Amino acid sequence: MSLFNGWAVTPQVGQLLIATLHKSKPRIVVECGSGLSTLLLGYALQKIGSGKVFSLEHDGRHARQTRSFVQAHCLTKWVQVIHAPLAVTTLNEIPWKWYDLRNLKIRGTIDLLFIDGPPGNLQARSRYPAGPLLFRRVSDDGLVILDDAHRQDERAIVKRWLREFPEFKRHDRPARPIPRQAVLLKRMAQIHRLRNHG
Ligand SMILES: C[S@@+](CC[C@H](N)C(=O)[O-])C[C@H]1O[C@@H](n2cnc3c(N)ncnc32)[C@H](O)[C@@H]1O
Repeated sequence: MSLFNGWAVTPQVGQLLIATLHKSKPRIVVECGSGLSTLLLGYALQKIGSGKVFSLEHDGRHARQTRSFVQAHCLTKWVQVIHAPLAVTTLNEIPWKWYDLRNLKIRGTIDLLFIDGPPGNLQARSRYPAGPLLFRRVSDDGLVILDDAHRQDERAIVKRWLREFPEFKRHDRPARPIPRQAVLLKRMAQIHRLRNHG
C-alpha cells in the first residue's frame, strides 16, 4: 500500500514541516496521525543529524504499515511509531476519543507538535484534545502545527485553543507564505512564565 493517498499531507504542508524542522532543529517531535509525514519528518531529522519523531497512530494496521516504511527507508534511528489506540478521555465533562498516551515515553518536552489525527470524521472537533492533553508538554518557544486548518472544525479548534491557552500565539506570518491548510502556533515563553509565576 502506498503512503501517497488522499489522507497524506499535501506537498505544501510537507514543505512547511521540513522548513520548520530545519529552522527550529527540534529535539523531540510528536506527531498525531502517521503516514507520509512521518517519513518526511524522519528524513529531515536525519539530514539535521539530531532529534527524534514519536508518531502516535491509533490504527494498529496503519501503525504497522508506517513502521514498515520507516524500516524500509532506514529511518528507525529517527522515528518511533507508537500504536496508541483511541481511548475515552473526559474533558470538561465531555467524553472525547483520543490517543492513549501511556506508550508515549519521552524525556523532556515537545519541541514540535504536529497534529494530523485522529481523523476528522471520528467526532466533532476531533483534534481539539491535543490542546488540553499535550500543550502543557510543549517546550517554551515550542511549535504546534495543525493540518487541515482550512476546515470549519479546525478553524473552531484553533479559536478555542487560542482562548484557552493564551501562551500560544499564531506564528504563521513569516517570510515564507504558509499554505492555507496548516496553522502554526508558538508557545511564547514569556507569557507562559508570567501565567505560572505572575
Ligand atoms: C490525516 S491521516 C494522517 C496522515 C499522515 N499524517 C500522512 O501525512 O500521511 C489521519 C489518520 O487517518 C488514518 N488513515 C490514513 N490513511 C487512511 C486511509 N487511506 N483510509 C482511512 N484512514 C486512513 C490513519 O489512522 C491516520 O493516522
